[in-house]
Amino acid sequence: MDQAFVERINAQVAYEFARTEPPQGFPKLPDLPLGRYTDETFWQLERDSLFRRSWMFAAHTTEFPNPGSYRTFDMAGMPVLVVRGDDDVYRAFFNACRHRGAPVVRDECGTCDRMVCLYHSWSYDHTGKLVFVPDMRDFVGLQPEERGLVPLRCERWGKFIFVNADQEAEPLLDHLGPLADELWEIVDADLRVLARITTTHRCNWKIMAEGFLEVYHAKTIHPTTVANSLRPAGAAISLIRNGHTRMLTPLTERAMNSQREDRADLPKMPGLADVFNTTNPAYGVFPNLITPLDSTGFPLLQFWPEAKDRTRLERVWLAPAESVEPRHPTWDIRLAGFEVVMVEDTDNLEPVQVAVEAAAHTGIPLNYQERRIWHYHTTIDSVIGRDRVPEHLSVPDLLADWVD
Ligand code: FES
Ligand SMILES: [Fe+2]
Repeated sequence: MDQAFVERINAQVAYEFARTEPPQGFPKLPDLPLGRYTDETFWQLERDSLFRRSWMFAAHTTEFPNPGSYRTFDMAGMPVLVVRGDDDVYRAFFNACRHRGAPVVRDECGTCDRMVCLYHSWSYDHTGKLVFVPDMRDFVGLQPEERGLVPLRCERWGKFIFVNADQEAEPLLDHLGPLADELWEIVDADLRVLARITTTHRCNWKIMAEGFLEVYHAKTIHPTTVANSLRPAGAAISLIRNGHTRMLTPLTERAMNSQREDRADLPKMPGLADVFNTTNPAYGVFPNLITPLDSTGFPLLQFWPEAKDRTRLERVWLAPAESVEPRHPTWDIRLAGFEVVMVEDTDNLEPVQVAVEAAAHTGIPLNYQERRIWHYHTTIDSVIGRDRVPEHLSVPDLLADWVD
């Protein structure tokens, strides 16, 4: 992490503490239309033209111990399979047999020699090639070479594996832009998955994501937890192209001291700038990953829409290998404490969804502190295609000059 970055963040924190109003020229943002969370057409556009065209985190390479190790996921309605090949290449496919569509592996994870469909036993190798069809004599003109598993794009950022259903998508590292280098020490560190914790909530996926894109709510929702740790007035927020964002919120003195004590005996990732120990650094990787980083370990929070009004929240906890194998006892306390915060956040989701469905308020006025949410919405529209978003639901790109 370079010194210029650290100096820029420190200067931004100082500026944010000192200001008495939004910076000169920051625009008045129109209300976000409530229909963006409820409209059926808009939801279908998101599902088909955003989630089927975006790079999304799928797994960490260490979750694939051997050639033939695999993991399966539901990625916004797409059944997906990632498998490590005999050549150590990670490949992703639709987990749908080319006969009649049954899954070719059914467990969440495992290791297999061949992927053998449990319906009629069509079998595929680790490259997705169809290698065996029972009763082949009964098919007329079936060309096995045309019936391999349908591939998805699968690329790595260090040890982080991402998947994209769009064959025409720009390369993952281009999509990540400046984050690709900025977080390299973290994505390439010797980490292990400590836990995967999943809950499902009745709300639109953006209502969930937005709850993690600002700290304006900290004092109200988290009065006895997060609020004791953060100084939101100094939050250094950056809007980054392609919808990504960064927010480094200064820690209170008390939080810095207690973190030092609580985490003193946990191994740390090398290479992180000191500014990461004096702030709470939260990155948003568009479209559905937000992570509050910490050198001793951190969760990747992912938001997976299962329906217009139902969203799965995954926390994939990563930590330095030495504190996971064997698991350091401090982790049980840390995970339990984080789950208390998660409940504070998620208890709020359904009531907000109910109000949005009832159109109980007329629209959503966002403030300067909440500008990551605006950036998020304008990027959604630009990925879908501005001309395809119904005009009354669109969000104009008013913050283009505020993007790094
Ligand atoms: S659906 Fe897979 S073999 Fe028939
Ligand atoms: Fe929160």
